[in-house]
Amino acid sequence: MKDFSILSKDELLKYREELQKQYDTYLIEKLDLNMSRGKPCKEQLDLSNNMLNINDYISSDNIDLRNYGILDGIKEAKEFFASLLDIDKNNIIIGGNSTLNMIYDAISRLYMFGYMGSTPWCRLEKVKFLCPVPGYDRHFDILEKFGFEMINIPITKDGINMDMVEDLCKNDENIKGIICVPLYSNPTGTCYSKETVDRLAKMQTKAKDFKIFWDNAYAIHYIYEKIELYNIFEACKKYNTEDRIMYFFSTSKINFPGGGVSLLAGSDNTIKDTLSHLSIQTIGYDKINQLRTVKFLKDKENTLKFMDKHANILRPKFDIVLNTLEENFNNNPILKWQKPKGGYFVSVDTLEGLAKKVVAMCKELGVVLTDAGSTYPKKQDPKDSNIRLAPSFPNIEELKKAMDIFCLCVKIATIDKMLA
Ligand SMILES: Cc1ncc(COP(=O)(O)O)c(C=O)c1O
Repeated sequence: MKDFSILSKDELLKYREELQKQYDTYLIEKLDLNMSRGKPCKEQLDLSNNMLNINDYISSDNIDLRNYGILDGIKEAKEFFASLLDIDKNNIIIGGNSTLNMIYDAISRLYMFGYMGSTPWCRLEKVKFLCPVPGYDRHFDILEKFGFEMINIPITKDGINMDMVEDLCKNDENIKGIICVPLYSNPTGTCYSKETVDRLAKMQTKAKDFKIFWDNAYAIHYIYEKIELYNIFEACKKYNTEDRIMYFFSTSKINFPGGGVSLLAGSDNTIKDTLSHLSIQTIGYDKINQLRTVKFLKDKENTLKFMDKHANILRPKFDIVLNTLEENFNNNPILKWQKPKGGYFVSVDTLEGLAKKVVAMCKELGVVLTDAGSTYPKKQDPKDSNIRLAPSFPNIEELKKAMDIFCLCVKIATIDKMLA
């Protein structure tokens, strides 16, 4: 692509005219393409159709699962997830269909009741949370709902800016937690290094009831490379800090989003504390769904093979996004991005002040992207530069067109900024 920085004003204007012609052509086409949310496509959903044919209801320990009972999850589900995620089965509670719901509930309990006798967060004048950015909008929405102050922590190549995290947590008692997506993170695809995990486990926190919300949503969702995440429970065991971990996972993006099985894992204390509340919140979750999920996925080995099928569907889509970016902006500083090794997103950064404009232009041409700003608390990207691309849902042809339009809009917005 043309290097804008060496073009004269006249050359820029001429190029701008060419691009405008392409823009006007797309405008007439009245397209309807969506790259906004990380939803699996139909082919991915179809992989799990056989799960709907499983109608067994007796557990491995001979319990009729059609009835009330078993608050913390059926035996085979606990054993399955324990093996899949390398967590002790006694430290897992199997929940309902959504980790987001479990995270919201966990925060609500800490807010209303506190952790094992500590002051409930609602009684404190101020509660602050650390938010790795760019991050997942729905995490930030929960924290905003509770009125917590959110502090941006920059994502780095191998995790988050740990110097900043350590410094803040050591000195401020109001900082009660951090919310992390440690593997193939949403949206940057960042994978936390062993050192990052170890430092999170080891760091001093002025708040005694400090919590790490470890949302390992993409634990086995590789596309290009399987990355081994250092086990945070193992790390915390060394420093006697297991009580700070609230670990979450779900099968939303293994089988059916919104129809999967979620889990919370924590220390012995956390499990005891959580169950004391859950036993009042519910008689139990959907055990039939737990059983059919385990019957379908069987064991760790089979599940990882199953995830290969997802990866094979997603990889060509990610290739399109990454190759189109490469063809249009290779070595050009007007757009930056990272190649994710897995997950559901590609995160790009425009020049400062252009993300909202690019998203609006794409929308005008019929390409819906995640709203600019969404990857930051309160939807405020201080540089207005980050955009999250979600390639999973559209088909290949739609995706190619959507990416061409995206690149066109980035170029036009950038030239306009330069001319201004
Ligand atoms: C990081 C992260 N956590 C949680 C979720 C939602 O998970 P669930 O369907 O289990 O509520 C998503 C969905 O996109 C996500 O990206």
